[in-house]
Amino acid sequence: MKKIIALIAIAIAVSSLTYFAACNNQENETQASNKEDSIKQVVARGDYLANHVAGCMDCHSKRDFSKFSGPAIPGTEGQGGEAFSHDLLDAIPGVIYASNITPDSATGIGTWTDDDILKAITQGINKKGDTLFPIMPFANYNHMAKSDLMSIIAYLHTLKPVKNSVPERHLMIPVSLAYPAQAVQKSIDNNTAPPESDPVSYGGYLVNAADCGTCHTPFVKGQPDFSRRFAGGNTFTLPAFKVTSSNITPDSATGIGSWTLDRFMNKFTVCREESGYNYDPGKENTIMPIKYYSGMTDNDLKAIYAFLKTLAPVKNKVEKYPR
Ligand code: HEC
Ligand code: HEC
Repeated sequence: MKKIIALIAIAIAVSSLTYFAACNNQENETQASNKEDSIKQVVARGDYLANHVAGCMDCHSKRDFSKFSGPAIPGTEGQGGEAFSHDLLDAIPGVIYASNITPDSATGIGTWTDDDILKAITQGINKKGDTLFPIMPFANYNHMAKSDLMSIIAYLHTLKPVKNSVPERHLMIPVSLAYPAQAVQKSIDNNTAPPESDPVSYGGYLVNAADCGTCHTPFVKGQPDFSRRFAGGNTFTLPAFKVTSSNITPDSATGIGSWTLDRFMNKFTVCREESGYNYDPGKENTIMPIKYYSGMTDNDLKAIYAFLKTLAPVKNKVEKYPR
């Protein structure tokens, strides 16, 4: 009898051991697949921000201005080389080329650590220790949530490496005199994003990340005039066309004060269809990367609209296509 009980006890012990072992395995597998899912989610968030919100894949790819709003040329994503020059915009004191941010080791950022990339994006200091010209909107990215910044970096690692050497910049002034005043940027470690349930705050977060302000805030003597934020009036001269940024404050007469949400959404969503951008608009083209932004979700576009509505209206009449 004792023997039998002992055997049963052993049997139970063994079966519960294998049971626990099995559970453990399952747990490891779920843990592993959870981890894989969360990595996928992080990269997907980075992909969304880099390709539709924060401008990375707009400025750092080759744009095709024979099409409406200069969509990126497929295959050039992140390779850099776009020139930002005095000829394009008076306020730019020289010519600065967008860097190659693909993981190519020789010509891109293949040898950079995540910290190196984070420092460049949020402090404006690259791996060599050089200060980046602020057309690279690091002062804006300094206000983004750390999780969003890390997801963009995770996404950059997934880009196809492209070998493309980008020329050195040529400035007519020392970079320290470039706009905005080169304050030391704060640490981003405690940055978070406002909740999406608060459209005005979240919209403000997106407008900062999407850097709508650089193009839409007028430059006076090379410096943005923050007393007239978003009042437009900067003229961009491209080889095939010339266009002036609009007043996007809620002034009814000269801004977008009379725009309905539908009209605002439509400015972007037309480019979700190929027919919305795959044509040559000649002189009525725009430098605003509308095709790029059109990938934003409806909710994000609505939040941007909600935020812009809260700005102080500024009277400033702008002629979109100056002669
Ligand atoms: C408005 C255009 C613009 C946008 C938007 C932009 N960049 Fe840049 N970026 C530049 C330019 C121009 C430079 C080169 C600056 C210089 O040489 O002084 C640069 C430099 C960099 C560098 C430094 C590379 C090096 O080799 O020194 C990194 C990294 C970078 N950008 C990543 C990003 C990421 C990531 C985003 C999106 C979150 C982004 N950029 C958005 C224009 C832009
Ligand atoms: C690279 C410069 C650039 C950036 C970045 C940019 N815009 Fe524009 N935007 C322009 C220019 C130039 C125009 C005038 C031509 C046109 O209508 O596209 C314009 C026009 C507009 C208009 C149409 C206003 C009208 O009266 O027709 C709206 C709305 C607008 N921008 C909103 C935004 C928002 C919101 C963002 C950020 C998500 C943004 N823009 C980012 C350059 C820019």
